[in-house]
Amino acid sequence: MKNVLIVGASKGIGKASAELLGTQPEFKVFGTYSKTSTDSTEHIDYHFLDVMAETLQIDFLPEQLDALVFCPGAITLKPFARIKPEEFMADYQLQLLGAVKVIQAVLPKLKASGSASVVLFSTIAVQTGFSFHSMVSASKGAIEGLTKALAAELAPNIRVNCIAPSITNTPLAAQLLSTPEKIEANKLRHPLKKIGEATDIANMVAFLVSEQSAWMTGQVLHLDGGMSTIK
Ligand SMILES: NC(=O)c1ccc[n+]([C@@H]2O[C@H](COP(=O)([O-])OP(=O)(O)OC[C@H]3O[C@@H](n4cnc5c(N)ncnc54)[C@H](OP(=O)(O)O)[C@@H]3O)[C@@H](O)[C@H]2O)c1
Repeated sequence: MKNVLIVGASKGIGKASAELLGTQPEFKVFGTYSKTSTDSTEHIDYHFLDVMAETLQIDFLPEQLDALVFCPGAITLKPFARIKPEEFMADYQLQLLGAVKVIQAVLPKLKASGSASVVLFSTIAVQTGFSFHSMVSASKGAIEGLTKALAAELAPNIRVNCIAPSITNTPLAAQLLSTPEKIEANKLRHPLKKIGEATDIANMVAFLVSEQSAWMTGQVLHLDGGMSTIK
């Protein structure tokens, strides 16, 4: 049985990933929420965890952790000239330092596995430049750097990979998909003429935490309907 921690499993991609892994007998899933209080289910053991807190409460975790999936993120779109340095810092605190703190807190448990997998999240807006995305691009660019550095430092016993989605139908993207017109326009921007669903991304999470990806580390996987590479 593999113990998997999904930080941010109350909504969106984290929830879809927890539900997918929870039904597979080889995984024991620990999911967390911070604001969206969530009861444990037959397949998912839910606990409170706020990654912005100074001290992380992770005493619910077992001694050995075989996978960590870090989902908290933000998409705050604003003209660069109007963003205060404090806003850049708050975004970085959640997206980069949140991940750093969690990985450091559970590192001894991941090491105890002997064959662990860490999954982080970037965005298409790192590979491809978009107006008003400077905050999220900067924070997620740091996540991509962290992915590669940790993949090197933690090999061969801990693999570290990162998924870079384009717009995906979750609460985080709700404002960008709030009308049928916005949904249609977003579909048409993608070569595959669809936006992502949380389950599209959860399928990649399931692959990355499983032994099927045992020879993969330090990768940024572009799940974006072809948008970042096809003209
Ligand atoms: N959706 C997209 O279009 C898209 C595109 C590119 C990249 N991504 C990236 O994919 C990842 C998952 O996104 P998503 O769309 O599934 O996001 P989401 O719908 O907002 O879900 C985020 C999860 O993180 C948790 N969370 C938020 N703040 C937290 C905190 N301070 N401490 C602990 N947990 C916290 C939330 O729990 P609570 O509600 O309980 O706080 C929730 O379970 C993110 O890193 C995002 O940047 C998403």
